[in-house]
Amino acid sequence: MPDEELKQVRAFDIVGNIAVVKIPEKLLPKKQLIGQALMQVHHHVRTVLNQTTPVRGEFRTRKLEVIAGEPRTETTHREGGCSFKVDLAKVYFSPRLATERLRVTKQIKPGEVVTNLFAGVGCYSVLIAKHSEAIKIYSIDKNPAAVNYMRENTRINKVGARVVPILGDARDVVKTRLMGKADRVLMPLPELAREFFDVALLALKPEGGVVHFYDFGKEPELFGPSLEFVRAAAATKGKKVELLGSRAIRSYATRVYHIVLDLKIT
Ligand SMILES: C[S@@+](CC[C@H](N)C(=O)[O-])C[C@H]1O[C@@H](n2cnc3c(N)ncnc32)[C@H](O)[C@@H]1O
Repeated sequence: MPDEELKQVRAFDIVGNIAVVKIPEKLLPKKQLIGQALMQVHHHVRTVLNQTTPVRGEFRTRKLEVIAGEPRTETTHREGGCSFKVDLAKVYFSPRLATERLRVTKQIKPGEVVTNLFAGVGCYSVLIAKHSEAIKIYSIDKNPAAVNYMRENTRINKVGARVVPILGDARDVVKTRLMGKADRVLMPLPELAREFFDVALLALKPEGGVVHFYDFGKEPELFGPSLEFVRAAAATKGKKVELLGSRAIRSYATRVYHIVLDLKIT
C-alpha cells in the first residue's frame, strides 16, 4: 500500500489476541489485506476486527466486523497482573485506559469501601481488589453482558468476595441499596458524569470521601468548567469540594480531552 494510505490506518488497539482497526471508507476494498498484514506483523493476534460505528448507546458498544483470522469477538486481555474476559461486540472495553486505572488503584487506602457507578466488565474493581486492601468494591453496570463478564472476571482473578457485581441503573441501585456506604466513588463514564454527580454524593458516607469525576474538557480551560460544575452542584447539597488532582487522560476530539478530577467531598 502507498504511504498515503498506510497513514490512514496507523492507529489500532490490541485487546487480548484481537486487533481492532478503524478502516476509512476509501480503503474498505483493501480491508482483508490490511487485516492479514496486521496478523503477519503481530504474531499473537488471531483475529482482526474493523470497527464500523463509533462507541454509542447507553451500553457504550460499537459494531465490529471480522476482516481476518478466526471469526470471534471474545478474548482475554491481561492488564496490571489481572485477566479480563470481554466480548468486544457486547461490552465496552478500552486498553487505552490502563494507566488511568492503575493511577486510581494506587490511591486506595486499606479498609476503604468503593462504589463504582459504571463498572463495565470490572476492570477498575478487579484491579483495586487485587492490588489494594479495599474491603468492598460495589460495581454497578446496566449492561447484563458486562455484569456477566464482571462476575466471570472476579472469579478468574479470585477476588470474588470483595467485588460485588450489581446489574442495574446506577441511580436506582444507589438509592435502593448503596446510600452512604462509600469512602470513594468512581464515575468512569464522562457522558453521564454530570447527570450522575448527585448520585455519587448520595453514595458517599455522610462524612464525605473521594469522587473520581470523569468529564470532557476543552482547551485552553481544560479543568475549570468541570470544577465549577462540581462545586456548584455540591453546594446545592450543602457539600464542599476540594480538588486533590486533575489529569487529561486522552484526546477525544480536536482540542477536547477526556479528563478526570479527583475530588475530596466534605
Ligand atoms: C465507559 S464504560 C465503563 C468502563 C469501565 N469502567 C472500564 O474501565 O472498562 C461505561 C459503562 O457504563 C454502563 N452504563 C451506562 N449507563 C449506565 C447507568 N445509568 N447505570 C449503570 N451503568 C451504566 C455501560 O453499560 C458501560 O458498561
